[in-house]
Amino acid sequence: MDGNGRWATQRGQPRQAGHKAGVRPVRLCIEQCARRGIAALTLFAFSSENWGRPSEEVGALMSLFVQAMDDELDELHRSGVKLRFIGDRLSFPVRVQSRLVGAEARTAANTGLQLQIAMGYGGRWDIVQATRKLAARAASGALRPADINEATLSGELALTGLPEPDLFIRTGGEQRISNFLLWNLAYTELYFCDALWPDFDEQGLQAALDWFAGRERRYGLTATTTGGA
Ligand code: IPE
Ligand code: MG
Repeated sequence: MDGNGRWATQRGQPRQAGHKAGVRPVRLCIEQCARRGIAALTLFAFSSENWGRPSEEVGALMSLFVQAMDDELDELHRSGVKLRFIGDRLSFPVRVQSRLVGAEARTAANTGLQLQIAMGYGGRWDIVQATRKLAARAASGALRPADINEATLSGELALTGLPEPDLFIRTGGEQRISNFLLWNLAYTELYFCDALWPDFDEQGLQAALDWFAGRERRYGLTATTTGGA
């Protein structure tokens, strides 16, 4: 979700105003994905690198997370969304952490859209924390290094248990991954659009889904061996 700061600057407003305006498209995307029967949605809300932003902006983002969770949780729960937060949650202030834990517990039994909010998340962080867990198992004798494979590593990553992401959408015009789900994006279709995040709307989402529907996915094979056209 990129482009909040530029959206605000273009209007002569502080960057925080752009983050605030970015809540509406978040709500829209969640509703749309739930309505369309999409199994899982992962939103990149705050990266491990975003801690380096000016403290005023970081503080405003923390207040916004708290506010948004307090405002939205009832409705998310009602619509059957199962919420999970991925990232280094211990890096967050206690008032944020307690909301994350509360929201996960409340929605844990829901069977609708699986919604991951990446906060304090980095793709490299994810691979490192997974590696650390495997190393601990190996050091305790529970895992032989020779038995470490793609499945054991991905089993320790934040998105374990979810299907591989089919589609990645980045708004804001930049064409890069910026340390999002590095491992999981191996075969994901990458879609970039110029809309700044606060302007991303239903038509923008539809355009991304239409583009995705026209992709031929080969997973390193050929059209014949994947059974594709
Ligand atoms: C993305 O918008 C939102 C967060 C990282 C929280 P930016 O804040 O990166 O907006 P730009 O890229 O400066 O316009
Ligand atoms: Mg940005």
